[in-house]
Amino acid sequence: MTFNQSAQLELSIIVNGEPRTVRAYPMERLLDVLRENLGLTGTKEGCGEGECGACAVLMDGALVDSCLVPVLQARGSNIVTIEKVGSDPTLSALQGAFLKSGGAQCGICTPGMILAAKSLLDRKPQPTFEEIREGLSGNLCRCTGYTQIFEAVAEAAAEAARRKVPA
Ligand code: FES
Ligand code: FES
Repeated sequence: MTFNQSAQLELSIIVNGEPRTVRAYPMERLLDVLRENLGLTGTKEGCGEGECGACAVLMDGALVDSCLVPVLQARGSNIVTIEKVGSDPTLSALQGAFLKSGGAQCGICTPGMILAAKSLLDRKPQPTFEEIREGLSGNLCRCTGYTQIFEAVAEAAAEAARRKVPA
């Protein structure tokens, strides 16, 4: 099927478990559609080039940089953004651990880090420190030096195991 790149389309996407319909140009970035059309501003923009992971979301369970995904590619998929992971006052174990450890400072990288950590813990609930480092290697942070972030993920994994719930 071919699409006229210069005409808007009506696209259906499942976002955080809710069916949503958006009007957008096929090559518009999923990042912009989430933030501007759907008002989900928890997803951040850093580099805009697929290098920093600030815009990471889960698409059909896989971690993707939403600045690199044309919205057409997301049509019919299941997108999870930071807004689904937890919110005040019900923070997820991961969000709580980031807060406690100082893993969130300016906060620009934090939603992407949390989604990357969630993706890792969904696949591997009890990762080693090295696996955490590797699992978050696509996400850059200019503030923390990373150690607090890796510790937060390890703490969230331990807490989830104690509470017998997903992080
Ligand atoms: S803003 Fe998407 S990877 Fe940096
Ligand atoms: S907390 Fe500022 S970029 Fe990570």
